[in-house]
Amino acid sequence: MSLTLKVWRQPSADAPGTFQTIAAKDVSTDISFLEMLDIVNDGLEARGEEPVAFDHDCREGICGSCGAVVNGQAHGPQAATTLCQLHMRKFNDGDTIIIEPFRARAFPVVKDLVVDRGALDRIIQAGGYISVRTGAAPDAHAVPVKKDDAERAMDAAACIGCGACVAACPNASASLFTSAKITQLCKLPQGHPERNRRVVAMVRQMDAEGFGSCSKHYECQAACPKEVKVENITLMNREYLRALAGLD
Ligand code: SF4
Ligand code: FES
Repeated sequence: MSLTLKVWRQPSADAPGTFQTIAAKDVSTDISFLEMLDIVNDGLEARGEEPVAFDHDCREGICGSCGAVVNGQAHGPQAATTLCQLHMRKFNDGDTIIIEPFRARAFPVVKDLVVDRGALDRIIQAGGYISVRTGAAPDAHAVPVKKDDAERAMDAAACIGCGACVAACPNASASLFTSAKITQLCKLPQGHPERNRRVVAMVRQMDAEGFGSCSKHYECQAACPKEVKVENITLMNREYLRALAGLD
């Protein structure tokens, strides 16, 4: 099929950006969105033009590196799918596809579709880990965990840190990402000793990075490729208040 791409081109963080119109011809419906961009880049390079910069690594929906806003939707039109796992059969011959970077004040553009998502790393650095000694790996079932808690922790741990939730949110809030990490750790026994300090530090870092607040648009949940749920934000808010109240 033949497509018309309107791709955001921005040479650097400080340079002005603009949309470049690129014709993509003979696109196979079997290839992924990133493979389509690879072929487009081959064409640009063959003509002596600068290829489109975009992030990627695993191309298996695991690493969280890839991401762009495709026709207004973070990671494109298919639910629960990263950009690298989106296939061109989801588009039609003759379509015009608008491709933009994730836009948020806390995600400055590096180049074209590449944004700096280091703010998410700094939220993790503020407390998204377990620093207490947990000893050697225990035997299975030696540390009892309620089934519901284990499932909540595992579902939250599915977050790959892609930042689509931020890009989809009208407030550019990082609440879904941050709450997923807080839920993952506070629902497991190993996460309890630092539970209060963690939630306060991570929420404060989230605010310091310039992310907006959650006002319950649910766009984050709709855009999340790993189907992380907004219930985690409710839990984060409860954890934050009980930590400020000094409750154990
Ligand atoms: S919560 Fe979902 S959308 Fe947000 S960073 Fe994690 S995987 Fe990506
Ligand atoms: S490249 Fe790793 S999730 Fe897309």
